[in-house]
Amino acid sequence: MAKPKKLFIKTYGCQMNVYDSERMAEALGASGYETTAHVEDADMILLNTCHIREKAAEKVYSELGRFKPLKAAKPDLKIGVAGCVAQAEGEEIIRRQPMVDLVVGPQTYHRLPAMEAAVQQGHRAVDTDFPEDDKFEHLPKAPRARRGPTAFLTVQEGCDKFCAFCVVPYTRGAEVSRPVARILAEAEDLVARGVREITLLGQNVNAYHGAGSDGVWSLARLIRELAKIDGLARIRFTTSHPNDMDDDLIAAHGDEPKLMPYLHLPVQSGSDRILKAMNRKHTAEQYLRIIDRLRAARPDLLLSGDFIVGFPGESETDFEDTLALVRTVGYGQAYSFKYSARPGTPAAERAGVPDEVASERLHRLQALLSEQQRAAQEAMVGREVSVLLEKPGRMPGQMVGKSEYLHAVHVTDPTLGIGDLVRLKIVESGPNSLAGRLV
Ligand code: 5AD
Ligand code: SF4
Repeated sequence: MAKPKKLFIKTYGCQMNVYDSERMAEALGASGYETTAHVEDADMILLNTCHIREKAAEKVYSELGRFKPLKAAKPDLKIGVAGCVAQAEGEEIIRRQPMVDLVVGPQTYHRLPAMEAAVQQGHRAVDTDFPEDDKFEHLPKAPRARRGPTAFLTVQEGCDKFCAFCVVPYTRGAEVSRPVARILAEAEDLVARGVREITLLGQNVNAYHGAGSDGVWSLARLIRELAKIDGLARIRFTTSHPNDMDDDLIAAHGDEPKLMPYLHLPVQSGSDRILKAMNRKHTAEQYLRIIDRLRAARPDLLLSGDFIVGFPGESETDFEDTLALVRTVGYGQAYSFKYSARPGTPAAERAGVPDEVASERLHRLQALLSEQQRAAQEAMVGREVSVLLEKPGRMPGQMVGKSEYLHAVHVTDPTLGIGDLVRLKIVESGPNSLAGRLV
């Protein structure tokens, strides 16, 4: 058998890219590649890129520049760019960086083996199509190797919401849901390989509407079906839009024990004027009502969110509305970003807020969010949580895992192993994690 070639993948951006990188590695496995963590050993380097914010393309070009000496030392080395920058830039990448052999957008990873073969023949391969078929259907099934206790599973891709700041509808394309049967089969396969927690992924995951055995299924129905899989202990999903939080999905947070009490539900701003300018199609009040209903279903639900400050037209009053919303909700965790104009999006045409003003607002918002995050973590001390152990900790005999609320928790006990789901009493809260003791 030929010696396996080495594939080095660097992943940027969201969890969907993490999932896609695994699928790309599987697809290229069929062409004789195995992955390596060392870029110097690589026969092929793939950058799986993200285009969501600022200067993404420039970062990719400078990263590519750093591979020049490697390519000079090993002329057979192939270099590919995948993901959303590949989708947005296409052929331009090869024009600007002729050392690149392959450019592949997020919807055509199943064509990688053919592209790789073309590249081996000395051709350049560029594919940024949006084919009708499901890219995952064509990807070879992974060998049934054991794997870690947590996994991502993409159930939906693309977005039809067209928030005025966002490139996703352009880079990932229209909303597409994978059929129920394929998702169930993939989940069962993951569980057979040792997975105990699955995070369902989609840019707009709660807009899921996949073909099921008897018509179109919602995300809630899919979750309820997945929950029947023996051995699967936990289900999560991300990322959601408030307008797609339907009654059954809200109810599932209360009555489906395998659905974890942690929800990432971005609102972006607390100002109705800005929400309208963002084309979010909901008000701050509507968002708060959804949170109320979720908390009525599951009182201990921990909330996470995304915020953008300095969106074009944002006044100090608008920003204060965002701070007020954050105070009302009380987030367990959240991400906040300074608005960055993305070429091709409607908001990019509008006059922005001065950078110093945006930076200062980001600073104030992050101070408030960090304070809430710290408080939420400290509130766990003295409570009992369930923790799925994922990896060894830094200290001898220590294991680290996540609680149902997605807090990192470490525990030291010689009887424990990776993949164990244990009840722990939280005894201490550190800067980035909690410490627990077996109960
Ligand atoms: N500028 C700043 N933040 C953005 N996001 C998306 N597009 C932009 C942009 N142009 C943020 C949103 C989204 C998260 C994934 O990234 O908050 O929810
Ligand atoms: Fe982007 Fe808005 Fe779609 Fe989220 S819902 S992916 S922010 S367009």
